[in-house]
Amino acid sequence: MAFETIIVDIADNIAMITLNRPDALNALNSTLLTELCTALEEADVNEKVRCIVITGSEKAFAAGADISEMADKSFVEMYTSRFFEAESTRFNNIRKPIIAAVAGYALGGGCELAMMCDFIIAADNAKFGQPEINLGVIAGLGGTQRLTRFVGKAKSMDMHLTGRFMDADEAERSGLVSRVVPVKKLLAEAKAAAEKIAEKSLIASTAAKSAVDRAYETTLAEGLQYERTLFNSLFSTEDQSEGMAAFMEKREAQFRDR
Ligand code: HXC
Repeated sequence: MAFETIIVDIADNIAMITLNRPDALNALNSTLLTELCTALEEADVNEKVRCIVITGSEKAFAAGADISEMADKSFVEMYTSRFFEAESTRFNNIRKPIIAAVAGYALGGGCELAMMCDFIIAADNAKFGQPEINLGVIAGLGGTQRLTRFVGKAKSMDMHLTGRFMDADEAERSGLVSRVVPVKKLLAEAKAAAEKIAEKSLIASTAAKSAVDRAYETTLAEGLQYERTLFNSLFSTEDQSEGMAAFMEKREAQFRDR
């Protein structure tokens, strides 16, 4: 399918989705978020895809929700249209691993979009922020909840109340991003990470994603039970037999997602 605001490139079992509204620093409007969700859902059911990368440009991953689209809206319009609610649910339903490769600005909805991915690889020029407070509003795509879980209350409050940006080093120190690389190496690093993931059993990688996500949704006891159930159930797969046999035979495993 042809898209207006994103570019999708599928190669080597990886779907690379590039946000592409350069004139607006990839601001997230309804078209972009709808197209992104459609591309993600297509990748999720495409047997050739085993990992997804979402990226932007060197200047901006995304500078937030599109302010020009929101500026004239009333409470009633936002409430009745359930602004970006469906997109949020569609995104969260994607089973395959998603990496955010973030260079430049990841602000407001852009920071929130990065946090909706499974992990973030940041370029050394990345800047994260929740500056909605400067617009007289607050985060609306999960920022108050996810950023707080990532970096703790002190920094999350600081970011949401002052609207200040966090650079890549601080983001790594604070647990917001998993690694920081020079901006010119960002895509290669994200691709290499995606290729590593793509080598694994898809059943195991989707189970790992689901189990880690559960840590944010439930008590420790219930999360441990969920993990055990998934762990045990993986012993019904051919990939478990193959993975363990390959280790014993000192060879590379050939996973077949069965
Ligand atoms: C619409 C945006 C935009 C945005 C940038 N642009 N951010 N358009 N929505 N969020 C546009 C600018 O209007 C401008 O268009 C062009 O992109 C380049 O931006 P400049 O401001 O000229 O660039 P620069 O001086 O380099 O500053 C970069 C910036 C700044 C610091 C990132 O653009 C900025 O502060 N943007 C807004 C960040 C923000 O407040 N994000 C939160 C949005 S609210 P023209 O046509 O003038 O060239 C949000 C809520 C999410 O995200 C919840 C949803 C449910």
